[in-house]
Amino acid sequence: NPHQLQMEGKSGLERAYCRAKGGSPGFKVAILGASGGIGQPLSMLMKMNPLVSVLHLYDVANTPGVTSDISHMDTGAVVRGFLGPQQLENALTGMDLVIIPAGVPRKPGMTRDDLFNINAGIVKTLCEGIAKCCPKAIVNIISNPVNSTVPIAAEVFKKAGTYDPKRLLGVTMLDVVRANTFVAEVLGLDPREVDVSVVGGHAGVTILPLLSQLKPPCSFTSEEAAYLTSRIQNGGTEVVEAKAGAGSATLSMAYAAVKFADACLRGLRGDADVIKCAFVPSVVTELPFFASKVRLGRNGIEEVYALGPMNEFERAGLEMAKKELAGSIEKGVSFATK
Ligand code: NAI
Repeated sequence: NPHQLQMEGKSGLERAYCRAKGGSPGFKVAILGASGGIGQPLSMLMKMNPLVSVLHLYDVANTPGVTSDISHMDTGAVVRGFLGPQQLENALTGMDLVIIPAGVPRKPGMTRDDLFNINAGIVKTLCEGIAKCCPKAIVNIISNPVNSTVPIAAEVFKKAGTYDPKRLLGVTMLDVVRANTFVAEVLGLDPREVDVSVVGGHAGVTILPLLSQLKPPCSFTSEEAAYLTSRIQNGGTEVVEAKAGAGSATLSMAYAAVKFADACLRGLRGDADVIKCAFVPSVVTELPFFASKVRLGRNGIEEVYALGPMNEFERAGLEMAKKELAGSIEKGVSFATK
């Protein structure tokens, strides 16, 4: 009886929230930018994830509506909405995982780097909140340009004295999702049978699929390899152009973000052999950040894997990727340290 529950001072939902926040099994997850094109389907899919006990939805607009809507789903996670900077700290306090899809997306003709001027500041502010309120949380950065926003996050955490390179991950999962789909199409396989490793970064030529390492092992002609590499690198632009001004990938991105967040949570739970590609602090190349396969565990990133054997085409791609990445990383670092 809702009336009776109200009489006891707290609604049923309020009591469920207190119970869920106070150590019932499951993880506490915040989504920053929850009302956006990615944020909404991402919030919905995280509400469906049985590993999540508490889901905090934060945005500078429209969170009351999104939260009300999602809270009616009869899954276990208890949902709370937070609106505007004055509620950021409450949104972040106690979180185990923070996912950041806040910021503007591309329009036709734009590169991810064109988003830097707006999104760099947004990511900086949100990470300052994380450093203050949940410095031990795993952080998944989706906001573009990922090649620069991850270095910005690292600098913010260093400045705050909370930096743990094992807990900071740029989400490149969509590149892997696309690679699996496009490769399966060429091979006439079910995408679920294909596992492409995509390394480097998350923009143009920095997106480097290692087709020679494909599981199951397959060989491609040089035309096929060139076609697939280019399609994977330009998959985002394909969507931006098809949407013709209405934004970039949101639904496939939400799917990829949840696939990645779920892997982070399974790692936190202690599952063995949780391995995904991500853009992370790295010593795999001479660059301070690089995307490669990582093993996720109780502390976040437990192991960053080396790139493994590459063919000549891939080695040439790696050199191009590193050149562009170096500039994007430096741009992020100098923004955050200026
Ligand atoms: P959108 O514009 O639909 O949504 C962005 C949301 O962020 C909006 O709800 C907005 O109110 C919110 N926001 C703006 N400033 C904020 C702040 N200071 N704090 C909290 N929230 C704030 O954009 P969409 O399509 O959801 O894309 C979001 C970001 O994800 C873009 O930067 C886009 O480039 C990036 N992206 C990354 C991908 C990846 O593979 N890593 C793939 C696709 C997009």
